[in-house]
Amino acid sequence: MTFSKGIAVITGANRGLGYETARQLGRRGYFIVAGARTLEKSQDTVRRLESEGFNGTAVALDVTKVEDVEAVADLINREFRQFDILVNNAGVMPDRESGAKGVLSSSEACLMEALETNLVGAFRVTRLLAPYLRSGGRIVNVSSRMGQLSDMGAGYPAYRISKTALNALTATLAAQLSNRQILVNSVCPGWVRTDMGGPQAMKTVEEGADTIVWAATLPPDGPTGKFFGEREEMQW
Ligand SMILES: NC(=O)c1ccc[n+]([C@@H]2O[C@H](COP(=O)([O-])OP(=O)(O)OC[C@H]3O[C@@H](n4cnc5c(N)ncnc54)[C@H](OP(=O)(O)O)[C@@H]3O)[C@@H](O)[C@H]2O)c1
Repeated sequence: MTFSKGIAVITGANRGLGYETARQLGRRGYFIVAGARTLEKSQDTVRRLESEGFNGTAVALDVTKVEDVEAVADLINREFRQFDILVNNAGVMPDRESGAKGVLSSSEACLMEALETNLVGAFRVTRLLAPYLRSGGRIVNVSSRMGQLSDMGAGYPAYRISKTALNALTATLAAQLSNRQILVNSVCPGWVRTDMGGPQAMKTVEEGADTIVWAATLPPDGPTGKFFGEREEMQW
């Protein structure tokens, strides 16, 4: 197998920002390990990438299933030994309707669902795959402005809290992985026209994925442990 740049693992690669991130990294010469909740969805994703001239491999990667994550870690170890980029993109917004007004109209179940995918999923994937991430690699946690502590609003609290916590994961990982020169950053893609963002959103997926791909391909002396939107540092 030949790929000029390296290997990128992307969670939730089958649609929305995940798929567009795969396309943009594919265009830069990366081989894509296209995580999706089922093998069928991932195989379909790889077929679409290949039809556009990019290379990748299909993996079942439901970030809430430890056995899926362990299987991907084994595959990377077996087939590639190492990889270069991890994009923790998979995300859910379970309180999209119920939590619009805030904590008092949301539920514990929503909070747990948001945390399980958006925080624990990223924690699980990173913890189990990081041993195979090469020194000098990159981790991008796809976060949101809605998790900003410095500008917190009331609506969609489960989603907001999960993204604030994801930002904490970014900061603590950056501290631990600096000795391996791994750059770990959170990115807000902006409000993007995907199934999650809806048709009224301001940005196209191409525009939304831009800062994700920028953070995934930072130069070796690039920043770590930061939060970015539009390629600019944001307050936590
Ligand atoms: N769109 C926006 O305006 C916006 C703004 C800020 C941040 N973000 C963040 O950007 C990321 C991508 O969002 P999007 O807009 O592209 O949303 P989307 O179109 O709804 O796509 C979400 C992706 O996450 C996957 N996913 C959900 N739960 C998963 C799990 N347990 N395991 C693996 N994959 C899972 C979905 O897979 P299925 O197809 O199987 O459901 C899908 O591929 C999310 O983290 C989101 O919070 C989006």
